[in-house]
Amino acid sequence: MTRSKIAGIGMYVPEHVVTNNDLKKYMDTSDEWIQERTGIQERHYAHRTKETTTTMGVEAATIAIQRAGITPQDIDFIVFATLCPDYYFPGCGVLVQRAMKMKEIGALDVRNQCSGFVYALSVADQFIKTGMYKNILVIGSEKHSFGLDFSTRGRNVSVIFGDGAGAVVLQPTEEANRGILSTHLHSDGSSAEILAMYNPGTHANHWTEKPLATFDEAEIAQMFMSHKMIDNAELFPYMDGPAVFKKAVVKFPEVIVESLKANNLTAKDINMLIPHQANLRISQFVQQHLGLSDDQVHNNIQKYGNTTAASVPIALCEAYEQGRIKDGDLVCLAAFGSGFTWASALLRW
Ligand code: COA
Repeated sequence: MTRSKIAGIGMYVPEHVVTNNDLKKYMDTSDEWIQERTGIQERHYAHRTKETTTTMGVEAATIAIQRAGITPQDIDFIVFATLCPDYYFPGCGVLVQRAMKMKEIGALDVRNQCSGFVYALSVADQFIKTGMYKNILVIGSEKHSFGLDFSTRGRNVSVIFGDGAGAVVLQPTEEANRGILSTHLHSDGSSAEILAMYNPGTHANHWTEKPLATFDEAEIAQMFMSHKMIDNAELFPYMDGPAVFKKAVVKFPEVIVESLKANNLTAKDINMLIPHQANLRISQFVQQHLGLSDDQVHNNIQKYGNTTAASVPIALCEAYEQGRIKDGDLVCLAAFGSGFTWASALLRW
């Protein structure tokens, strides 16, 4: 039976480290508040002009491809997960194809926020299992720092997020005890606006019934993005933190248990849980709920903050590089985020 295996993995975080105390220069916050509520001590911010979501993805992909023992020209499909693409369109996948001088392969962008990487991995897994592709590059990358509200108004969101990228190369394997055992994807759109960036967008809120022909020049110029949006800080992400927290602590364990049950396994069998690094308190709740020891969970939000689609591959890569994951280990990836969407993947390393 053909399964997908992770043949190479890489990560990249920008050089610039921003501590909680650094954030105090812009907003009314404290190291104590941030650490107590989220566990975060510092995060990395991309260079404002030299680094983008794509360039960071390319850095991580370069390592993943080298470790897989192949070249960029061997990649036959790209799946790129991000919520902060370089452009509104086209997506980052094609920019990676161009930057890495790959063949004219398919490139798909996935927009599932914090669950983005696990969704992207699941998509790639299906293409491998059907035999359609042999070397798929899966990337999660985010440059959050370009679009956060660093005033006190936006502090509940801006202190949480950091920049970075992670990437894997998926290849087929016939080995009995290796590869992705299953993936599980879910969504519940009833709370879509609880954690969202509304603008710019095509939703009806800022549209008028007035015929286009009656618009003056200023109205036409502001059809997509208006001065009002800027003045009212409507171009920043919105998050109802407590509501997200409440849903996350239910859905994380649920989707992990779902993956274990699907493979006749239990939490005791997990060698390493890689939870999306949303908030250390959420990860600790999940760990406790499932009865996992510290040896069975990898957390690194303390150093990187929440890097959304990049968080799972960064944590997986770091756990691997630190020797915390060995051949044959049962690894569970799990994520929850905006949408809401949540997902898990169970794999034998
Ligand atoms: N520094 C200092 N004070 C802050 C702050 C900050 N960075 N952000 C918010 N506060 C204040 C609030 O203004 C509020 O003040 P008030 O009581 O005077 O009104 C107080 O702290 C409590 O705010 P609240 O939002 O209720 O805090 P919380 O305990 O829920 O913690 C989060 C906020 C965001 C840390 C928490 O809700 C959380 O982590 N939720 C999950 C978010 C998440 O995981 N998002 C990613 C999804 S994948």
